[in-house]
Amino acid sequence: MSIHIAQQTGVITLHTARTSYQMWADEQGVLHHLYYGPSVGNADLRDTEFRSDCGFSPNPGELHLQRDYSLDTLCQEYTGCGVGDFRVSCLNVQNPDGSIAADLRFAGAEVLPGKYALPGLPAAFDNGGECETLRVTLRDDVTGLTVTLLYGVYEQADVITRAALLQNGGSGVIRLRKAASACLDLPFGEWELLHFHGRHCMERQPERAPLPHGVQVIGSGRGASSHHHNPFVILAEPHATETAGECLGAMLVYSGSFRIEMEVSQLHSTRLVAGLGDGTFCWTLAPGETFAAPEVLFSYSSDGLGELSRQYQRFLRDNIIRSTWKARPRPILINNWEATYMNFDGETIYRIARQARELGVELMVLDDGWFGRRDNDTSGLGDWQVNEKKLGCTLAELIERIRGLGMDFGLWVEPEMVCPGTALYAAHPDWALSIPGRTPAMGRSQLVLDMGRPEVVDYLYETLSALLRENHISYVKWDMNRNMTDVFSRALPADRQGEAAHRYMLGVYALLERLTAEFPDILWEGCSGGGGRFDAGMLHYFPQIWCSDDTDAIQRLKIQYGTSFGYPISAVGSHVSAAPNHQTGRTAPLNTRAVVAMAGTFGYELDLQLLSEAEKQDIRRQIAVCKQVQPLVLQGRYDRLTDAMTDTYFTAWQLTAPDAAAALVSVVVVDPKPNPWPIHLRCRGLAPDGLYKNSLTGHVTTGSALMAAGLTLPMQTGDYPATQIWLERVD
Ligand code: DGJ
Repeated sequence: MSIHIAQQTGVITLHTARTSYQMWADEQGVLHHLYYGPSVGNADLRDTEFRSDCGFSPNPGELHLQRDYSLDTLCQEYTGCGVGDFRVSCLNVQNPDGSIAADLRFAGAEVLPGKYALPGLPAAFDNGGECETLRVTLRDDVTGLTVTLLYGVYEQADVITRAALLQNGGSGVIRLRKAASACLDLPFGEWELLHFHGRHCMERQPERAPLPHGVQVIGSGRGASSHHHNPFVILAEPHATETAGECLGAMLVYSGSFRIEMEVSQLHSTRLVAGLGDGTFCWTLAPGETFAAPEVLFSYSSDGLGELSRQYQRFLRDNIIRSTWKARPRPILINNWEATYMNFDGETIYRIARQARELGVELMVLDDGWFGRRDNDTSGLGDWQVNEKKLGCTLAELIERIRGLGMDFGLWVEPEMVCPGTALYAAHPDWALSIPGRTPAMGRSQLVLDMGRPEVVDYLYETLSALLRENHISYVKWDMNRNMTDVFSRALPADRQGEAAHRYMLGVYALLERLTAEFPDILWEGCSGGGGRFDAGMLHYFPQIWCSDDTDAIQRLKIQYGTSFGYPISAVGSHVSAAPNHQTGRTAPLNTRAVVAMAGTFGYELDLQLLSEAEKQDIRRQIAVCKQVQPLVLQGRYDRLTDAMTDTYFTAWQLTAPDAAAALVSVVVVDPKPNPWPIHLRCRGLAPDGLYKNSLTGHVTTGSALMAAGLTLPMQTGDYPATQIWLERVD
């Protein structure tokens, strides 16, 4: 049993293979958080709680003489608001009488087999017998607000999922202005925050700093999880490294605006509150109605950041991504975007495909520009009719020609948007988010469709499912190229506009649910101007996401490094593009571009016809290598061997087969030096007694030697040289 409720005391302990999590409801019904960390069995940890008579921290009315009992200093599982805890709260509730208050007290707990589901939201699933659910009910007796806390305990995965359901059990309408998914109060310890910030073309840059007193907020109010802040944070003890030390993560399974707040309190406890963005959020809850807050995935590691990342990578692969493609080798693709942008006709696409096929590429992806009046990015989105004049043929004819080469065909779409000037906009101007009387802000000359309207979702479902039914399409790239402004739904009354952004996400999820269920064999790739929506919510529908619009291999080292902290390598969309690179102007060798793209789904995004014969030969070789690497990318273990942000000489990583029978060490020199010091690496995750042959030197040695004494590489000069070293077990 992974959930234990002590008969006498009511102490509840959640067990995973290597961690324990404990809570307890006291005589007042306040649900204390006692512990999250390395396994302690069912030891009762109430003794570790610290209570003090802390000035200006109020005491509950019924306990006013018990000066050491304050909601402001106790660690709690989920907080109310307005009744004595001044730290960041889980809730902001306006009651029918106008008061802003919720006083949540324990009303019961039960253990259920399997994993709970969340209505309308992506969430982790159970593959059978892996998970137990704890349901805890908290209630405000004055208003009747009920909060159901859900815990999914994945014992072997060392993951605890959390979510909250808020039900109006009273007789008047209440307004939720904030409804967090979870709170984690860490009573002790000093923590550093590791988070992943960025911008378009430079996503998920890790940044680590001690948490100061006060509140730190990581979030997005852009209507998308965003390029700017990923909905994932790690708290690490100051000395935690890749291979040692305690750290824990909190990852939202949500793709819209979000907020993760961390507060170090007056008594040095640390509170983390995570949930959807609450800047403009306001949800009206009529009597009897329930609001579901998105899921958060918690994981804890005592063995450093590398192990924590692997816990997340495995969990997302096994329990978040549903696609039939999740463990299947992905086809090597060619995408025409950086080869042609929107300047193409059917013949150009066919010729690119033909050349790619000759070199071993398996899938031709036709990117933006094939529909409506879409010759540049100022028009066309919304009119999903094939531009046959531009193609010079029907889409079906183009697909048949490409399939005739022995290739599959994939297509780009951006369904959530509309451009003014399209037939869709003319027919339904009210389907775009915009505020009456104001000219809406534009992003890439497009407006955002109001996905919260069921008729918009139905229309997109009809349009896209017809396209997919009528054409032989094996892959879809689902793009989204601006953030939300002028968030106003013409379908909602004035007092419900605070629901529009979250309803948008629910509409997106509903559409994706329908399409991915109907077309399960399609390989869906998520995208938002690269990795602007690279999150666990999207991975529930898409097994891979285009990682960044920056295809520069050297920049990608950092972007892919940051992404690996939380996300599986098999989900990282990565391509070899042209040199000089279109984003940075840098020229990196073709081999280096391929080595970097192999730490991902792998494909090409350039006009292969322009390459020399020697380069073409190299591509044939790369594709053969990639086929060997793919099983490691899909199922293997991933180790960051260097810190891509601070190690300025070279970046290295290792992929290892699940049975440690083979490993691939990849090294890219980012700053070659005269009279260089050696490139020396210690491998990880090998079988200590296994004998491994080094593909570079032919030398055979033990796994323990490779992990302790390591590998030394020959001198590397030139611009950004890259090396791959296979370590194959030979015993
Ligand atoms: C942004 C994507 O990230 C690119 O790969 C490309 O598909 C363009 N959009 C097309 O408009």
